[in-house]
Amino acid sequence: MLGAALCAVQLSAQPKLTADNIEEVLGAMTLEEKAELCVGLIHYAPPAAGSRNYVPGAAGNTKAIPRFGIPSTVLPDGPAGIRIDPTREGSDRTYYGTGFPVGTAIASSWDVDLVENMTAAMGNEVLEYGADVILSPAMNIHRNPLCGRNFEYYSEDPVLTGKIGAAYIRGIQSNGVGTSVKHFAVNNQETNRHENDSRVDTRALREIYLKGFEIAIKEAGPWTVMSSYNKLNGEYTQQSYDLLTRILRDEWGFDGIVMTDWGSKEGTVKAAAAGNDLMMPGNETEVQRLIDAVKSGELPEADLDRNVKRMLEYIVKTPHFKGYKYSDAPDLKAHAKVARAAATESMVLLKNEDGVLPLKGTEKVALFGISSVDFVAGGTGSGNVNKAYVVNMVQGLENAGFTLVESLKDFNQKYVDFQKLNMRIGGESILLGESKVPETGLSKTYINSLVPESDLAIVVIGRNAGEGGDRRVDNDFNLTETERQLLNDVTTAYHLAGKKVVAVMNIGGVIETASWKNLADAILLAWQPGQEGGDAVADVLTGKVNPSGKLPMTFPVAYMDHPSSYNFPTGLETPGRRGRNGSEGVKNWDYTDYAESIWVGYRWFTTQDKAVSYPFGYGLSYTTFEYSKPVVKADRDGNITASVTVTNTGKVAGKEAVQLYVAAPAGGMEKPARELKAFDKTKLLAPGESETLTFSITPYELASFNIDANEWETAAGSYTFYFSKNVNDLSTSAKVSLKKAGSYEVTDAYAHIK
Ligand code: BGC
Repeated sequence: MLGAALCAVQLSAQPKLTADNIEEVLGAMTLEEKAELCVGLIHYAPPAAGSRNYVPGAAGNTKAIPRFGIPSTVLPDGPAGIRIDPTREGSDRTYYGTGFPVGTAIASSWDVDLVENMTAAMGNEVLEYGADVILSPAMNIHRNPLCGRNFEYYSEDPVLTGKIGAAYIRGIQSNGVGTSVKHFAVNNQETNRHENDSRVDTRALREIYLKGFEIAIKEAGPWTVMSSYNKLNGEYTQQSYDLLTRILRDEWGFDGIVMTDWGSKEGTVKAAAAGNDLMMPGNETEVQRLIDAVKSGELPEADLDRNVKRMLEYIVKTPHFKGYKYSDAPDLKAHAKVARAAATESMVLLKNEDGVLPLKGTEKVALFGISSVDFVAGGTGSGNVNKAYVVNMVQGLENAGFTLVESLKDFNQKYVDFQKLNMRIGGESILLGESKVPETGLSKTYINSLVPESDLAIVVIGRNAGEGGDRRVDNDFNLTETERQLLNDVTTAYHLAGKKVVAVMNIGGVIETASWKNLADAILLAWQPGQEGGDAVADVLTGKVNPSGKLPMTFPVAYMDHPSSYNFPTGLETPGRRGRNGSEGVKNWDYTDYAESIWVGYRWFTTQDKAVSYPFGYGLSYTTFEYSKPVVKADRDGNITASVTVTNTGKVAGKEAVQLYVAAPAGGMEKPARELKAFDKTKLLAPGESETLTFSITPYELASFNIDANEWETAAGSYTFYFSKNVNDLSTSAKVSLKKAGSYEVTDAYAHIK
């Protein structure tokens, strides 16, 4: 009797977790419970089907500890929408996520408000499908055009990356759910992605590869960060105290949790000590390692406690902790509209000779290219959203009222159906995504026969890539012979008859354009625009929406023009020949030298004055814009205010993304010819209408990293600010002089790597 009473007292004394008693709960947890909380649970004990904490298809869960009222939380993938299973056993409902445009596409909008609005809708699906954190945004730099996951990432420039990432985070988190900024850091290739060692000097690390993360973390406060699989200068990022504690927390003030990418690596103890709070997806060995390490004194219990405390601080913010009653019924119709609008704003018009676009008087269209049917909404792998449908270009153009040449449409459809069936029968493994059917040839006779039947030809060129593999130079970056032939034959036939040809690029990463761009009269870069893609392309082709996207990366003349191409896997690496710690291993497989340092993308091309096919920031409109009244002022502390007036000088309404590049004073550290420091987009300006855009830049944002002094430095002297349509437009500028030099101290993280 007495025993039962004591037991009741003990149970009622059990603290239930609240936002205010985290220390108390931490104090009451056993070592085993602490270790459990720091390791995810998917591998050995997913919550029971039907549980409110089980969302089939989500990438992972954290563990529940019921005696403290700690729920399991749910972590599905992104970034182009929530990735969960669309159907469930025992349920006749569906659970589709909206397929939004991919990362590279939304970065091409140069519109932080648009991105924030879009991810506000996406975050609502995270909330309403019973999840807590979406595993995005993905913010690695486009170091090289061939990275298979570039479509998930934003740009070759860290400021564009950081600002778009920050907007993405704000939108998602406005719903009371979290984000996981990934893959932290320097995860710029897929080849041997679990083991590859990115060897990069500290200046490039800080200015190029970390800067975007720094901006997003400081500006938007993501709940979580995902450390990457790769090594950085010889150490796994997930085990790097320099990266996860000194830089991320001590310098940038990040106060959320860090989780690993889905790796289950050895070295759990080192990861926990480094400040990697959560091991995902988790297994029992990792729990045991943590327990043993604390018992043996290898891991100070204080380190584990610090991580557990951060886990608890995370838990109390989540919808599951708050008992949110999710509906499983987000408004997918409304979100489809958001996806369509975002897609149109992200498309880039690269060429428009004789104003062929928007289409006028076109009724009958010959739609070439099997990607018009096998349209790519988004890339493969964990970034592939399970969407209810994809509007392809056939449907998009028909919805917009065009008549398509029937025989061609039928042929493409049948060819794609047949090939997909073949792939399935052949057992081709398609990693978590959509396959891409290769282009097929058409005879010149057949193409010629279509000319009289149609007013215009459209040729669609498609590409797909994704997690686990990098792209190739031949037949991927470069066109296939079949694609080249098709473009040649179609343009020859239509031009002979005085008819126009429009090329549409349905791609997730850069392809070669220099050798064929002269053929087509207009080129629209549609990217991988999400489930509403076909309708969005039609919106732009018809002029319902005036394109205003601009390139978030350079389109080089040739692949080898990028200095990183000399140190990037091109498919020839031999797996299996491993050196000790990768140090004597195979180049670009075991390790990759970032020998180009800061000379990534336009920083290289502008400084070398090297010709490109399309420069960073490039994109046309159906109207024209003039920039005037450039003004730049600095206050006593060196804080800069810049402004420029943009006027729509054409005949239709349009938006313009203005880019602010800065050329630093000569002397001192070697710097790129110019660097993007800020950008903004006008509202929809009516013909004749003007808007003045204002930008603020701090002296810290002008700083470069001095490796020898291990600090950020802003030189005194005269700075030129270019208000540009793209990185090569130097027509509107103003200068300002900074009287005082500035320096900004950092920790000694990676200071030894010059
Ligand atoms: C990917 C991550 C993803 C995770 C969970 C990993 O393989 O690299 O981007 O979030 O899997 O699916």
